[in-house]
Amino acid sequence: MRIIICENYEELSEKGAQFFESQITLKPDSVLGLATGGTPVGLYKNLIKWNKEGRIDFSNVTSFNLDEYYPIAPDNDQSYRYFMNENLFDHINIDKTKTYVPDGLAKDPDAECARYEELLAQKGPVDIQLLGIGRNGHIGFNEPDTTLNAVTHITSLTESTIEANARFFDNITDVPTKALTMGMGTILKSKKILMLVSGKEKHEVLCELLNDDISTSNPATLLKVHPDVVIICDKAAYEG
Ligand code: PGA
Repeated sequence: MRIIICENYEELSEKGAQFFESQITLKPDSVLGLATGGTPVGLYKNLIKWNKEGRIDFSNVTSFNLDEYYPIAPDNDQSYRYFMNENLFDHINIDKTKTYVPDGLAKDPDAECARYEELLAQKGPVDIQLLGIGRNGHIGFNEPDTTLNAVTHITSLTESTIEANARFFDNITDVPTKALTMGMGTILKSKKILMLVSGKEKHEVLCELLNDDISTSNPATLLKVHPDVVIICDKAAYEG
């Protein structure tokens, strides 16, 4: 794993966006793996700005998001589909029919997960996968556990994740308790992985990721088996 330490969140967001700019410049029909949460918002702002300036052309790009709450409607303002439209897709020249997010309204969640995995197999592999990290080490919604899932699956959120995500909701009881998420194997199939880590509340989990052995109790440590992982963090996360 390679680590890039930035002065602050703004620098992290710019460096992260540069990886995407280079990727799309080198391969205009790139398959991007995208993430939600607070951390990638600054990176997406840069992509929007550079698209408007003509520096990046998304017209041939395909994207797959890591996860979606379940059950949730795509037009619910808490859904990850809504988040992606608001924070990126509505502001760039991407073909929305080529932006994939698991269907939070699927009647049969297992069938939806199998469909998503199959779609990734057909259109992938993902060229560059963007990741955040949960304070408990989750990536996507692969939560710490005694075992982890390889493929896209339905999962329950841990208390720690529900508490962390409550900041986006009026009330903690409104946070969905389940989600559909790419599995660890799905994520590890990406050619390149770019993880963003910002803020001192991520210091402890970043230290664990950098220093500890691979363990299912910190799913992000599994990234150590991947040949091309770049972690971009700010000083607050690195120094605590
Ligand atoms: P955050 O979420 O960017 O909002 O901290 C990261 C995550 O939970 O993966």
